[in-house]
Amino acid sequence: MTKFVKQEMAYERVETHREVVARDPYRLHYHIMPPVGLLNDPNGLVFFKGKYHVFYQWNPFETDHGAKFWGHYVSDDLVHWEEAPIALAPDMWYDKNGCYSGSAVVLDEKLYVFYTGNVKDEEGNRESYQCLAISEDGVHFEKKGPVIHVPAGYTAHFRDPKVFYHGEKWYMIVGAQTESEQGEAVLFTSSDLMDWQFEGPIAGSYHHHLEDFGYMWECPDLLEVNGKDVLIVCPQGLEADGLRYQNIYQSGYFAGKMDYETLSLEHGEFDELDRGFDFYAPQTMEDGKGRKILFGWMGNSEEDGVQPTVKHEWIHALTIPRELEWKNGKLLQHPVKELELLREDEVRHTNVVLDGSEVELPGVDGSVFELEVVTKDWRAKRFSITMGETSRISYDAVAKVLTFERGAFDGKGFVEKRQCVVETLHSLRMFKDTSSMEIFVNNGEEVFTSRVFDDPEAKGITFTATEGKLEMDVKKWSQK
Ligand code: FRU
Repeated sequence: MTKFVKQEMAYERVETHREVVARDPYRLHYHIMPPVGLLNDPNGLVFFKGKYHVFYQWNPFETDHGAKFWGHYVSDDLVHWEEAPIALAPDMWYDKNGCYSGSAVVLDEKLYVFYTGNVKDEEGNRESYQCLAISEDGVHFEKKGPVIHVPAGYTAHFRDPKVFYHGEKWYMIVGAQTESEQGEAVLFTSSDLMDWQFEGPIAGSYHHHLEDFGYMWECPDLLEVNGKDVLIVCPQGLEADGLRYQNIYQSGYFAGKMDYETLSLEHGEFDELDRGFDFYAPQTMEDGKGRKILFGWMGNSEEDGVQPTVKHEWIHALTIPRELEWKNGKLLQHPVKELELLREDEVRHTNVVLDGSEVELPGVDGSVFELEVVTKDWRAKRFSITMGETSRISYDAVAKVLTFERGAFDGKGFVEKRQCVVETLHSLRMFKDTSSMEIFVNNGEEVFTSRVFDDPEAKGITFTATEGKLEMDVKKWSQK
């Protein structure tokens, strides 16, 4: 099928489903979503000619995974997004079963995108190629075909090239599976973005102190944040371990020191990037101001088909953009400053004392809002905030555990939870966008990212502290 035909079919599907999608009360207001169908990973994040470009894994034809396209949005400010034409369609022999995840870099005023061409034969045997496409205007792409074939010793689970420049060279980090079914992040180098040299793994599931740390590592990203080298990676196949690794696949980072002479990474333990239900396959970019900005996929393959939005022919979204900071041995995530552009109708309550009973505060409600809560003078043993009746964040000051619960997707009660240890709770900054919740704990030390399907009409927010008093300051903004 020619490129033209595939793209036309996708556009036609967007057109014929525009209304059913728009009628969904769970559509988000300021997050990146697919116009129809399924969205997964953020791809090709780049600041090019003064604009932010975000591409995404997209199956326009179903609310399920399949032969992926690269959808595309462009923004001046990371907050208001405009839909751009389809960037890549799976229409060549080397990508016919999906233009899988990848990244973008700028060279000589051109955009170079690298992605994985996914190919499957009738028996389901897989091949994968790391491919290149080039664009002069950032909108129309010319495919150049494969630049890398799978090296010896690896299976065809070899994908998600992230390219970056360091010193005087280009580097590409790729997610890989060895023939003995271990996950690895492997490196290639190039001087011109065309010829690539295989340099081997920099980390893997059997390296160092890691043992059996996943059968495949997806979506690696290697970056420096305030002088620290950080390898972000998504291992598949980790067993749940206490409060950790509760999702089907995990997403986190190793921090350490990358030696670009010997091409080796000294790193510490794996730490999860997010404690919520719906976070995976993040990617970062550096913008014109030198900020390291991360977007994640706000989804998780587990529950495709179960989410109520599938009735409206779409599923999943990207997270809000987050600026990364390395501080006190931790990677912090801060909602980018530009998100404040969405604020309106500020409501403030200071020194609110909670003492046993449930409290509602005038003006503090809604389903699209930013809410900031600073907790002071902790004497209570338990504290909770319930939003939209079926989403609740609560802190147990004795066990030092923070818990996020969300309702069943049919709206009946709190059914699932995610938790993490928090020594002392100082602040919560929450973004609710109809059916998404992003909770930044203690200035981004921990984040819970989740889709929530509360009754769209349930706008109440209640605060409760028990077994002792608690004082707090609350600020709330509606969001445009
Ligand atoms: C991660 C992932 C990537 C792959 C893409 C396909 O969610 O499985 O490894 O490139 O999704 O859509």
